[in-house]
Amino acid sequence: MCGIIGFIGEKEAKNLLVEGLKRLEYRGYDSSGICVKNDLGLSIVKNLGKIDQLEKDSRLSSVRGKIGIAHTRWATHGEPSEVNAHPHCDCKNELAVVHNGIIENYSSLKKILEKEGHKFKSKTDSEVIAHLLEKFYKGNLAEALLKVLPLLEGTYGLAVIAEKSGEIVVAKKGSPLVLGIGNGDMFFASDQTALINHVNKIIYLNDNEIAVLRKDNFEIKNINGKNVNYEIEELKLGAESIEKNGFEHYMLKEIFEQPKSVKSALTGRLNKDGVKLSININLKKIERVILLGCGTSWHSALIGKYVIEELTNIPVEVDYASEFRYRNTPIRDSDLVVAISQSGETADTLAAIKKAKECNAKTIGIVNAVSSSIARECGTGIYLHAGPEIGVASTKAFTSQITALILLALYIRKERGMELDNDLLKEIASLPQKLILSLESCDEVEELAKKFKDSKNFIFLGRGFNFPIALEGALKLKEISYIHAEGYPSAEMKHGPIALIDENMPCLFICPHDHTYDKVLSNIEEVKARKGKIIAITDKTDDKLSSIADEIIYVPAVHPILSPLVNVIPLQLFAYFVANMKGLDVDKPRNLAKSVTVE
Ligand code: M6R
Repeated sequence: MCGIIGFIGEKEAKNLLVEGLKRLEYRGYDSSGICVKNDLGLSIVKNLGKIDQLEKDSRLSSVRGKIGIAHTRWATHGEPSEVNAHPHCDCKNELAVVHNGIIENYSSLKKILEKEGHKFKSKTDSEVIAHLLEKFYKGNLAEALLKVLPLLEGTYGLAVIAEKSGEIVVAKKGSPLVLGIGNGDMFFASDQTALINHVNKIIYLNDNEIAVLRKDNFEIKNINGKNVNYEIEELKLGAESIEKNGFEHYMLKEIFEQPKSVKSALTGRLNKDGVKLSININLKKIERVILLGCGTSWHSALIGKYVIEELTNIPVEVDYASEFRYRNTPIRDSDLVVAISQSGETADTLAAIKKAKECNAKTIGIVNAVSSSIARECGTGIYLHAGPEIGVASTKAFTSQITALILLALYIRKERGMELDNDLLKEIASLPQKLILSLESCDEVEELAKKFKDSKNFIFLGRGFNFPIALEGALKLKEISYIHAEGYPSAEMKHGPIALIDENMPCLFICPHDHTYDKVLSNIEEVKARKGKIIAITDKTDDKLSSIADEIIYVPAVHPILSPLVNVIPLQLFAYFVANMKGLDVDKPRNLAKSVTVE
């Protein structure tokens, strides 16, 4: 869950690396470091904290050279500190390594290396790679790395440079790594966004491959040292996709992008005859759907369950990818297993889909990041086309995931010869306009945030399609404002959480006027009777609700299946404003990283 980048060419590496690290900062931001090579040797600067700390470090001014590697860290082994920050070196400081992933057998390797006389400086797992390289390096970095890799258990996207070598050697297993081919220079990075503006040709390295990068050529080899074929792809993202475009934070920009991102998810897939998806799997005979994801993607999976069961009558199970991967559960070839992931790199989701494939289930991905590990593992599915999501709190990917799941449900329905509801299709086509209307709640939500920003706890309640929205509203508030929040199905509240209600407990009810409305109204009464503060998100004025709710936010009325999309927007805005008013780092909340590539 770290970000790595490197450059080799004719330009000064330092600024390119620091700029690249900033674009990778979403992957981890507790410490960072850079190593640049010149004729005098390797210069290393490491710093605790975010990349701007590294950028301000006066030691950086003396760093010069045209070959370099850099790293931004999310600590797994060893606390965030300068000594644990990457790059890590061998005993003689002649080799430097950056590593994203986990070396599971590091402790036994470390014991052996220590017995052999190697001196370790850090508490990280990654440092063993540098010492192993030291052991095998005889002037050819690639040869040394090919001897080291079979000894490593775990995952890595890693890169190494040496004082006496004019090459960068990188390797990949289980952590993403992309090469950028420039004019007379080469880059590598954990993510293509770090390469925007520098190259337009990229190569995704496969697992168990290494690449030797020189300023004007490169080689890609397998773990046996044999050259392999590779595919050069075009880097299609432009600089605008990673800029804030006048917004104070990426999160706010991404919330406001949702009409556009949902439109992109629908483009070319919805027409007057229904739904067109390029899924090359026969879905006519599937007997069960299993939806897998983590965090926000798991919440969209829950909505997917409601939608797919409603529209296709096929039973749907939803699992946390981290639970599914280790549970002994029957999986059949008549199952369709769907991996849902914004980043396409979440380790648990990737492992879960591999397990489903091993059991011969049909697998598809609902993924935002094109050519990511999960997308490639699934081989087919639905890309979200939401553009890069940089704020750590997922917003636009969530609404695009729900949109993709609705399309999937309609597609299965069509494949199985069931009629499509034209009114629903028309409403789906008008979703982007409905989201624009929902965003009009922004000013009122900001006022609401002013009133509740100092609350210590929060309960979010919803029913049916909007129960997962209650979970998502609570998660958004927790992760960026650090306020304890619970999401619950409205009717479940009386089975326990109701004990928490008093005059200090704000309860936010999501209550569109659907078939559950009267029931939710009764749940609101129950909270009111215990002096809880009521905030309601609803779709039309109603005397009864107005008389009991302390605060009401209005969103447009839509088909019940689409209501999660319009209802989540005020909740995203609420979390954003509360966190911002508290002076917190909205885009990079503490302890989190955007892409969770460790278990
Ligand atoms: O990239 P993924 O969708 O696989 O990520 C899954 C979760 O890590 C992610 O949704 C996380 O919960 C976000 N911080 C939520 O805002």
